[in-house]
Amino acid sequence: MKRLLLIGIGAGDPDHLTLQAVKAIAATDVFFIVDKGAEKRDLTDLRHQMIKDHAREPHRVVTATDPERDRTATAYAEAVEDWRERRGVLYHQMIDEALGENQVGAFLIWGDPGVYDSTLAALEGLPADIEIEVVPGVSAVAALTARHRIGLTRVARPVHLTTGRRLADEGPSADDMVVMLDARLAFEGLDDFDIYWGAYLGTPDEILVAGPVAEVAPKIRELRAEARERKGWIMDTYLLRRR
Ligand SMILES: C[S@@+](CC[C@H](N)C(=O)[O-])C[C@H]1O[C@@H](n2cnc3c(N)ncnc32)[C@H](O)[C@@H]1O
Repeated sequence: MKRLLLIGIGAGDPDHLTLQAVKAIAATDVFFIVDKGAEKRDLTDLRHQMIKDHAREPHRVVTATDPERDRTATAYAEAVEDWRERRGVLYHQMIDEALGENQVGAFLIWGDPGVYDSTLAALEGLPADIEIEVVPGVSAVAALTARHRIGLTRVARPVHLTTGRRLADEGPSADDMVVMLDARLAFEGLDDFDIYWGAYLGTPDEILVAGPVAEVAPKIRELRAEARERKGWIMDTYLLRRR
């Protein structure tokens, strides 16, 4: 048998690693790292640092470059599907070539492997002699609410986890929404909501802003643009709560 671990590494703070994740890294023979291009180099660097800090010798690190997604395609769903397929082929190839009999392989997954991450889907259909295990991680959602010192849930109320694209296209879907993957400031104009916004959570560049959307949206727009310009990329997450 071979084992493949999907290890949640937290949202950017090296101390987000759980003891279970640290033990899983120490048990790994082959790390698979998929480089997502220059803008995400910081994210890859953190993975390399975690391997340096917690892996045991000997181990191998196998790297590959993530297939490009067609961001110009008007058929968004098809473009994503096509990219997922190519990604799946790449992952299968890497594993096939590098993971030996009785070895443990691992992907270090940003945040929690179960939240807006396509690795599990990309690994569907692996040979039957490879057993997959998932190690949960601190998601950006948990990092956000912790840093703002708020609860994710109000008493007995639901929360909707969604994307910026959906919020922009379809409008608010609930009184409490956590929004990820937002490239277009989809919260602007939602003036009956409070927003709890966080960028680069858990890192030295972290930025937090909270308040009524009508009051703080211009400030978030400005901070976001400035940070994106300075670092070349941004990751932000926010909770919208109807007042
Ligand atoms: C592909 S999803 C991965 C989510 C990840 N699996 C998790 O559990 O947090 C990427 C999105 O996660 C959010 N995100 C991840 N890390 C973040 C961080 N350190 N600060 C703010 N948002 C973050 C952003 O919304 C970003 O667009």
